[in-house]
Amino acid sequence: MTPPKTTADKLKDQLALPLITAPMFLISNPTLALAACKEGIVGSFPALNQKTVEGLDKWLTEMDDGIAELKKNNPGAKIAPYAVNLIVHKSNPRLEEDLALIVKHKVPIVITSLGAVSDLVDAVHSYGGIVLHDVTNIDHAKKAIAAGVDGLIAVSAGAGGHAGTMNPLTLVNELRGIYDGMIVLAGGLTTGRDVFTAEAMGADFAYMGTRFICTTESSADPAYKQMVLDAKPADIIYTSAVSGVPANFLKDSLTKAGFDVEQLKKEGGAAGKLKPIANEAAAWKTIWSAGQGAVNIDDVPSVKELADRLKQEYAEAEQKLAAKHAIKAAAPATPKRPPAPKP
Ligand SMILES: Cc1cc2nc3c(=O)[nH]c(=O)nc-3n(C[C@H](O)[C@H](O)[C@H](O)COP(=O)(O)O)c2cc1C
Repeated sequence: MTPPKTTADKLKDQLALPLITAPMFLISNPTLALAACKEGIVGSFPALNQKTVEGLDKWLTEMDDGIAELKKNNPGAKIAPYAVNLIVHKSNPRLEEDLALIVKHKVPIVITSLGAVSDLVDAVHSYGGIVLHDVTNIDHAKKAIAAGVDGLIAVSAGAGGHAGTMNPLTLVNELRGIYDGMIVLAGGLTTGRDVFTAEAMGADFAYMGTRFICTTESSADPAYKQMVLDAKPADIIYTSAVSGVPANFLKDSLTKAGFDVEQLKKEGGAAGKLKPIANEAAAWKTIWSAGQGAVNIDDVPSVKELADRLKQEYAEAEQKLAAKHAIKAAAPATPKRPPAPKP
C-alpha cells in the first residue's frame, strides 16, 4: 500500500522546483511573488512590507486574483501557492490584525519568524493553510514542533537577514534527528545545484532570499543590487548592532551609516544594538542586508530568467549524479584478491 502523502509531498506536487523564495523586508512584493508562483516556485513577502493593514488587504487581494488569473491562463501549468511572513514578536503591533487578514484570504503558507505560537498555527490550520517556522538551532525547533508547525526553515550560517551560526549540514542533520516533518534549508543558496544539494542533504525544499534581491522585480534600490553584485566574502558582516538580533549586512552600507566595521567584526553576533539606530525599520532602508550567497551572484535577471536557469541547473545536477551512480552501479564488483600461494 502506498503511504499517505506528507505535507511536503503535497507541496512538492504543486511546484516545478522544490524552492521557496524567502520573504525579505523592503525587498519582496506581489509582482516578485506572482512572477515566482508563475514559474512553479513559492513566492512570498513579509506582511510588514505593506505599511498599513489596509495596504496588506489590497496586496492579498492582488495575490488571490493574480494566482486565479495565472491558473486560468496557463491550464496544466504548475502555479505555486504563495506565502506571507509574520513577525511573531511583541515589537510587531500589527500581528493580530495581519493574522485576521491571512485567515480572511486563506493564505496558503504562513512563514513565522522569531516566535512560534500554537494559537496562530490553529488559526492557519482552520482554513487548511500551513505554517513554516524559521529556526537557527534545535531549541527553537523543539518549541516550534511543540506549537504544531508544519515545517521548519533551517536558517544556517551565512543567510541574509537574521541568520544563524550553524553549518547547514550540521543543522539539517541535527533537526532530522528529532523531526521527520518538512525541512526547508536556508542560507547561501543561489543555484539550481544548491536546490538539489539541499534535497540530498535531507531537506525537502530550498529557500532563497539574497539571490532574489538581484532580480528586476525586487524593490531593492539599484545601488543595493550593485553592492550585492560587487560583494566579496569579506563584505558580508554578521552583527547584532542593527537590530539586536544577529544578521548579515553589506559592509559598505554599514560604513556609510557610520558604523565602525572593524569593531563590529570583533563583536560579531554579540554586539549590542547600537544607539544610532533609533528606528530599526528605517535602518534597513539604508543598511542593506545580504547573505554570503552574494558572492555567487553576478547578474540581475527577471524572475522568469532566473527560474529557467535554476530549473536547468537542477536538472543538470540530477543528471550528472544519476549518470555517476549508474556507472558505479554498472561497474563489475572489484575482483577478490586470489589467495596467496601456499609456501
Ligand atoms: C534584505 C533581507 C530582508 C529580510 N527580511 C526578512 C523578513 O522580513 N522576515 C523574515 O522572516 N526573513 C527575512 N529575511 C531572511 C530571509 O527570509 C531568508 O531567511 C534568507 O534570505 C535566506 O538566506 P539567503 O539570503 O542566503 O538566501 C530577510 C533577508 C534579507 C536578505
